[in-house]
Amino acid sequence: MELITLPELAALWSAQARRDGASIGFVPTMGALHEGHIDLIRRALQGHDRVVCSIFVNPLQFTNEEDFARYPNRLAQDQELLAAAGCHALFKPQRVDLFQDFVLQAYDLGGLDAYWEGPSRPGHFQGVVNVVQRLFSFVRPDSALFGEKDRQQLAIIQHVAQHERWPERILACPTLRASDGLALSSRNLRLNTIERQRATALYKALQAAAETAFKASVEETTRAGTTVLGNLLGGGVDYFGIAHPRTLVPLIEWGDLEEAVAVVAAQVGPVRLIDNLTLTRGERPSERAT
Ligand code: PAF
Repeated sequence: MELITLPELAALWSAQARRDGASIGFVPTMGALHEGHIDLIRRALQGHDRVVCSIFVNPLQFTNEEDFARYPNRLAQDQELLAAAGCHALFKPQRVDLFQDFVLQAYDLGGLDAYWEGPSRPGHFQGVVNVVQRLFSFVRPDSALFGEKDRQQLAIIQHVAQHERWPERILACPTLRASDGLALSSRNLRLNTIERQRATALYKALQAAAETAFKASVEETTRAGTTVLGNLLGGGVDYFGIAHPRTLVPLIEWGDLEEAVAVVAAQVGPVRLIDNLTLTRGERPSERAT
């Protein structure tokens, strides 16, 4: 696997791939890779001739200095995992190179940042979209793959890509979970054994909502989730709610929707965890556990 540090070299790598007639799949990450990221790489390999992964801990999207400073860094292990998965190139730019001559843009996020993570992390989604655009401008992929675990991020990137007519296809990929349901996340590395056990409360709350959804009211479904969180976590819950599957606007009633999404964020020990689950009127879609 090729290691590329300079943005101009990433652009050259991409141009060469195109000259070879190869399609390019891109998996942007912040490193500390886990099986969820590797699943994105495998999916990218299925649909593209060349796959490039980026690792860049983006300062623009952090609203908490400590979270940024303590974001896990495991480059050697990440490189091994990527190479073993068959990834062709790792783009690992330095901040100074990636942001040379960069001007922060205020993108139209379509109001998708008005709820959930938006108010809790002002500026976060603008930071994400700016860096994604910046990475795209060098890598120039055909498609980029994002996990549904960060569902609001995914919806916002899809919206901006469409609104700005970005040529890249934005592909959504399902959340991967540990056998006890905890969504895989690089931040889980910072949990100690007791916190790791407590963190399962998020998935248990989502499941409680899934069991009630469409059978009882939205209010009762929300209560089912918040009760589980209250019992298992006590404090630290930022939000638990039921949202429209596309706009992510909080729901008041099910209406004629066939699907909705339960969303949750809570502080567990030193980390703030987020998760979501699609709620369906009929059979629930299965999510793969590792
Ligand atoms: O989801 C992430 O890891 C980040 O938000 C992303 C998309 C790599 C942008 O920094």
